[in-house]
Amino acid sequence: MKPIKVGLLGIGTVGGGTFAVLLRNQEEIARRAGCAITMAMVADKDVDKARAIAGDRVVVTADAYEIVNHPDIDIVVELIGGTGIAKELILKAIANGKHVVTANKALLANHGNEIFAAAQKKDVMVAFEAAVGGGIPIIKALREGLSANRIEWIAAIINGTSNYILTEMRDKGVSFDAALEEAQRLGYAEADPTFDIEGIDAAHKLSIMAAIGFGIPMQFSAVYTEGISKLTREDIRYAEELGYRIKLLAISKRKAQGIELRVHPTLIPERRLIANVEGVMNAVLVMGDAVGQTMYYGAGAGAEPTASAVVADLVDVARMLTADPEHRVPHLAFQPDQLSNTPILPMGQVESAYYLRLRVFDKPGVLADITRILADLGISIEAMVQKEPREGEDWVNLIMLTHLTLEQHVSDAIVKIEALPVVADKVTRIRLEEFN
Ligand code: NDP
Ligand code: HSE
Repeated sequence: MKPIKVGLLGIGTVGGGTFAVLLRNQEEIARRAGCAITMAMVADKDVDKARAIAGDRVVVTADAYEIVNHPDIDIVVELIGGTGIAKELILKAIANGKHVVTANKALLANHGNEIFAAAQKKDVMVAFEAAVGGGIPIIKALREGLSANRIEWIAAIINGTSNYILTEMRDKGVSFDAALEEAQRLGYAEADPTFDIEGIDAAHKLSIMAAIGFGIPMQFSAVYTEGISKLTREDIRYAEELGYRIKLLAISKRKAQGIELRVHPTLIPERRLIANVEGVMNAVLVMGDAVGQTMYYGAGAGAEPTASAVVADLVDVARMLTADPEHRVPHLAFQPDQLSNTPILPMGQVESAYYLRLRVFDKPGVLADITRILADLGISIEAMVQKEPREGEDWVNLIMLTHLTLEQHVSDAIVKIEALPVVADKVTRIRLEEFN
């Protein structure tokens, strides 16, 4: 079989890693794919940087359209990022009959439905293993390995940057800002790091996993999203004292009334495997009705771990090039005309357990007022701890863990509790998953 020619758009962190892995392992890759896969063209805004990485034998250009329009290119690898020019380039490549590999979860979460429809019309493949979980082959596992199962829920640590920040803060006492700066230096963070720390990147990835797991369209705008930027060291420490770790979790659950889609900091018992996933590592827990719980673990960001997924997609596409399009694995695992319109549940209807921290005046009757509000709303308390007041202060921190309850009830209770004159400050609410 003649060599497959690849055109790379963007030779930054992941593009550079992809170039290096493809070159270093070319013989092994050709033995697997059944043909050579060669990087023929590279486009980057910084042509000098691209030449320095790619050398003389590869055509380097500043104009990415030169690649998507070039008749010799079989597969376009988009590693520019964002939802602007990347979208235009991918749609143009598809229109030109080229297969696409991308790591761009922001683009897929926002415009995947349109991109996959365009690809289907032109009988081309759009592969995106690197878009979720960096080097973990979670798309392949969900789409193919678990295809016998009815997926019940997915819970994942799926943003390397925020997990790195939380780990550095807890283990080394590094400040939030310093940990974020280091994650950026290591090439983990998005071009706009608010995507990482505000849970947006995790929500992009959750939209993709939920679509594949439950056979629903991509619905990024329906994901409840809360990041780690407001977490305090105090809450991280109190959670530890109670035997929990706080992680940014992306959770999707199938319920009788619809599907939950949410990203937020979450207390997890420290004895659970997923609570011990540290640094840039990611982990995805999937519950299938036949297989039970499975867990996928590995580096969630960085040049070569992500390149591992990009190159695996190249091998997959190369193997399937001559296959009848009808016999390829559907982009979202389910046949395109079989996607369901199961509703996404509003956050108020989500059921969770909670960690609540209240700053209250240390005097008789306060606890009774608070517990009455909770009882009236049917919220049952599992544990409660009152911290010692700081020297010279009359205010104390009261920590409560609740049993499973409806989010709306907790929201209503918080409004009432905050209105009590004996309560200072806003109530801190962090959701809690036991994974029993
Ligand atoms: P980088 O910013 O490191 O790389 C992007 C590259 O594209 C840069 O070299 C940039 O040049 C170049 N570029 C920008 N605009 C153009 C253009 N119009 N034409 C040609 N080249 C252009 O980003 P990453 O490698 O980190 O990320 C790439 C994609 O991979 C994103 O979608 C990201 O979300 C995704 N991803 C990243 C991971 C990671 O660990 N970093 C992991 C998984 C996915 P310049 O620098 O001069 O602007
Ligand atoms: N910024 C992302 C992260 C890159 O930190 O997880 C991998 O998708």
